[in-house]
Amino acid sequence: MMDFALRCATNIHWQALDVHREARALIKNQIPCCIWFTGLSASGKSTIANLLEKRLHAEGRHTYLLDGDNIRQGLNRDLGFTEADRVENIRRIAEVARLMVDAGLIVLVSFISPYRSERRMARGLFTDAEFIEVFVDTSLDECERRDPKGLYAKARRGELKNFTGIDSIYEPPEKAEVHLESGVESPEVCMERIIEKLSSLQVSV
Ligand code: ADX
Repeated sequence: MMDFALRCATNIHWQALDVHREARALIKNQIPCCIWFTGLSASGKSTIANLLEKRLHAEGRHTYLLDGDNIRQGLNRDLGFTEADRVENIRRIAEVARLMVDAGLIVLVSFISPYRSERRMARGLFTDAEFIEVFVDTSLDECERRDPKGLYAKARRGELKNFTGIDSIYEPPEKAEVHLESGVESPEVCMERIIEKLSSLQVSV
């Protein structure tokens, strides 16, 4: 016996609101966008995102940084690292990022986001100009050498299952807007490369 609708969002209608995204963005005097960092654990995503946010903030931009490790302690604390949980992790955070862009913010998203299909889904929530994918391309060898949290060592010992790069896949982007060789270039240089891209898109000066 079925006693509730399987499709929860039926009978729900979009509520039109008078204060719209352009108005919110205008008040902040900036072009909102989503800067989406993807890469292996320990590739440098959060370090670079943190540097970038500091720079944008110093320029007077209104920003917010959504970081996988932090969000997984709150909003997404019910999710683990199975394929289904990672898909849900990215779905939720893509929606949160969309709301924040709608609110006029420059949103930085730093998640492994290992699957192409989920990154494509996230991109689909934004206009072309709003979504800037940044591939933090550090080799597995280098990430494993860094291993700041000891997680690669744990995974190699078989104490941590479904670890990205070891027994869970990472699908590199085919055409990210920014491709950083973060094993070779310093985080500061990587950050400057993103700033250049943002300048060309007139998001930042
Ligand atoms: S994602 O794959 O779903 O996008 P997310 O970015 O939220 O991952 O979280 C990754 C962080 O969780 C890593 O930086 C690492 O600190 C921690 N972590 C714990 N277990 C795993 C695991 N099995 N695979 C990858 N990262 C893990």
